[in-house]
Amino acid sequence: MNGHYYDFERLPYMIHGGDYNPDQWSDYDKMINQDITLMKKVGMNCATVGIFSWARIQKREGEFDFTWLDELLDRFEENQLKMILATPSAAMPAWMAKKYPEVLRTPESRIQNQWGARVNYCPSSPIYREKCRKITEELARRYGRHDSVIMWHVNNEISGGCFCSKCEERFRQWLKEKYHSLEKLNCAWWTGFWSHTYYDWEEVGFPGYINGKLDQTCPGQMLDMKRFFSYIMADHYRQEYDIIRKYSKDKPITTNTWRLFGEMNFRDFEPYMDFAALDFYPQYNDQPGDDKLSSVYAFSLDYYRGMKAGKPFVIMEMAPGVPLIHATKIRRPGLQKLITAQTLAHGANCINYFQWRKGRGGAEQYHGAVIDHCGRTDTKTFQEIQEVSEFLKTVSPIRNCRKEAEVAVVYDVESDWAISFVQGTHPDKKLYRAECVAHYRSFYEMGINADVVDMESDFSKYKLVIAPMLYLINEKRAQKIQKFVSEGGTFVTTFYTGWAEESSLAHEGGFPGLLQEVTGLRIEDMDVLNNGEHVLAEWVEEVGQQRKKGVIQIRTVENDLLLKDVYEGHTFCDQIRLEGARSIAVYDGEFYRGNPCITVNSYGLGETYYMGVRTHDDFKKDFYEGLIHKLKISKSLEADIPEHVIAEERGGHIFVMNFSDEERKITLHRDYRECQTMQILKGEITLKSYEVLVLIKQ
Ligand code: GLA
Ligand code: ZN
Repeated sequence: MNGHYYDFERLPYMIHGGDYNPDQWSDYDKMINQDITLMKKVGMNCATVGIFSWARIQKREGEFDFTWLDELLDRFEENQLKMILATPSAAMPAWMAKKYPEVLRTPESRIQNQWGARVNYCPSSPIYREKCRKITEELARRYGRHDSVIMWHVNNEISGGCFCSKCEERFRQWLKEKYHSLEKLNCAWWTGFWSHTYYDWEEVGFPGYINGKLDQTCPGQMLDMKRFFSYIMADHYRQEYDIIRKYSKDKPITTNTWRLFGEMNFRDFEPYMDFAALDFYPQYNDQPGDDKLSSVYAFSLDYYRGMKAGKPFVIMEMAPGVPLIHATKIRRPGLQKLITAQTLAHGANCINYFQWRKGRGGAEQYHGAVIDHCGRTDTKTFQEIQEVSEFLKTVSPIRNCRKEAEVAVVYDVESDWAISFVQGTHPDKKLYRAECVAHYRSFYEMGINADVVDMESDFSKYKLVIAPMLYLINEKRAQKIQKFVSEGGTFVTTFYTGWAEESSLAHEGGFPGLLQEVTGLRIEDMDVLNNGEHVLAEWVEEVGQQRKKGVIQIRTVENDLLLKDVYEGHTFCDQIRLEGARSIAVYDGEFYRGNPCITVNSYGLGETYYMGVRTHDDFKKDFYEGLIHKLKISKSLEADIPEHVIAEERGGHIFVMNFSDEERKITLHRDYRECQTMQILKGEITLKSYEVLVLIKQ
């Protein structure tokens, strides 16, 4: 379906909707009338329906009642409202669990869950699968061609894993298909260690539950378990996708994905998601002073854009007002629009909320909603959503535009998992995701578009690819990087790269494994400095606050990229042996003073940079500013922009966003037209706290 142009993309306006649960209300008719009037008043043109409606559709096994949905769709049609229709498979009715207990999920402890909550299903239960297929088929057959249905939403935030015996059996099958022989599995998992060798497939399974926790002492097994959970959940998703596709050929199908990143491997889902879709709950203003937060959320948006190689993505949920999960400050004026603008600047093509109306009970009774319990339209939130509606009309022309970038940062979910299973390095130190975001942040703050990609993405369109802590390197990955560099690309990588093969077995011959040639170096050891953490948790009380953080000076020896002579390094200090690479900076302390820590290697037509030491943002900023200059990569906005103001370009529109709770001034170096007022702006401009301007080049 890639490349297909869907009806919803042809709409002359942007989809603006939200989760709508009339199925929770008994006084249904009155409710719908009121809601439709209010949706139109606030400027919404769509609603997502049915996500948790299984018990309403199927009160008893074998009986389906769609009258409420039929009526709702009629009303939507009369009122030109569109619907994103969901399959209800994220939560099951009580009768099902009662009659077929196997449908319930089993956590790590192997003590099966009781009925309740949600996302509490076993993805391998033949009965659950059958029930999901059946209800999906009923829905898809009935509404698959309905004009008002513009998109399908499968399940909800598919996540986690089930440890029941059926899932374990499927894991075994998956392993058999992957390894073919026990001998190969034993080798990949290094089972000779602690006498874990398997002699019969029946002995193989999930890691054990030992002394109250999952046994993580076999990294290869843990990694395969994560891969399997991602595979099985995608497989579960896919059966609904296939059924819907049969009846609903021209409507996109997707699912709302995993908050930030790392829960599942999106490659397993991507072929069956017509659009990337995500739930977006940034916590701006909850944590004032956390100036890095917006880059984390920007990174996650770009990651989801990368899922479909840059195609615009759907915001499936966003909180109007305060989300329950934070239960903190009221959203400051301007923030609702700012958050919307941020998603659009990064590639969103429609905006949906969780939730339209606050329910009166249940866990989310106080979660932000467009309509509060008071039911009024003169509330702050209602008016902010109205303002967002107006904003969406103005920027709507960009909805099908791609965001273009010459720089890419690699986030590799498998390295993320594998690094987390490495024993020895304290979890507070590894911080794989934070390291990826830190590199990305340099570009983000400079106003340079960057993509977030994975190791399957096409690198050829980038001038610069940065892959921090790329722990897992196999032949295929090494060849891809070598090809990119030899053809003229610039590649940057860091400590913790190339330690292991894809099975998570350490590379023989030294790190960074198969990247030794392209980096022109070999890592002999890694010094790990204190981070203020406690090596043994039991010592916390005794050591208290006195534990000092270890830092090391690093000195520039080649300064065509770096501005300063001295920077500070911390946490990880690789002991580098140069084998063709040159030093850009050396350590200026410890017994390895004078040894290389930042290097560059010419390889074919391109270059590879290696950062053997963890640095602060100031180093990365100077380093990447130098590199940008060298590679002639341009910024989105010709202006001086202060801290906390971010400029992002998409489809000829430059979103200038003030993420600070204070006023900020920018100085434009050329004339721009402001997209909402159409005024020409020049020179110094003041942005109020959380204000957004959308500029177009003159
Ligand atoms: C998730 C879920 C929604 C709702 C929100 C609350 O994103 O998909 O059903 O629970 O969280 O923030
Ligand atoms: Zn199971």
